[in-house]
Amino acid sequence: MLSHAQLDAVAHHQGYTALLERVLISEEQLRQRVAELAEQISRDYAGRTPLLVCILRGGVMFLTDLMKHLTVPHHVDFMAVSSYGVGARATRGQPRITLDLNTDVRDRHVLLVEDIIDSGHTIDHVLRLLQTREPASLRVCALLDKPARREVYVPITYLGFEIPDEFVFGYGLDLDEYFRNLPFIGVVKKEYQ
Ligand code: IMP
Ligand code: MG
Repeated sequence: MLSHAQLDAVAHHQGYTALLERVLISEEQLRQRVAELAEQISRDYAGRTPLLVCILRGGVMFLTDLMKHLTVPHHVDFMAVSSYGVGARATRGQPRITLDLNTDVRDRHVLLVEDIIDSGHTIDHVLRLLQTREPASLRVCALLDKPARREVYVPITYLGFEIPDEFVFGYGLDLDEYFRNLPFIGVVKKEYQ
């Protein structure tokens, strides 16, 4: 695993290709699947105004692309949850809400928009918290699912792709905060995972 200083040097001097084992999901595949999900969501929420709650920061690129394709009127708000120590790549300890909603979710149709469900602890924590605020409905839309790593059950209503147990980056997902901007999802080389 690279240190922050090494990763910063790679990011500036070599770019992502030095860390990329292979492209797992291409820009075109993402575009197509996100459009399909938006179509399905628009159909399911017809006649309502869902509140899309994006889990920062990984979900942000997924959210904005999804929004562009949604035809159902909707609102958006943001939450941030931290469960990863700086630089760490494994879930440790209780997730903590570091940014809460500005919107009252009571009687709202809430759709959580998350980048990836890994152990499941992050989204489970958010689901439990929001449920106490009595929304009309509460569902999960996740771009990626790594079922091999699941520790708690998470009901995923809308899913982009199921992926193998490998560390991925790009399209909102970071490698120690770098490379969220890549337009595709890539697998990190084994020696850096
Ligand atoms: P969980 O609580 O274990 O489900 O963790 C979910 C969070 O971990 C996601 O929102 C991501 O921020 C992060 N995460 C999990 N797997 C990956 C990965 O392969 N690449 C980048 N971030 C990941
Ligand atoms: Mg995330």
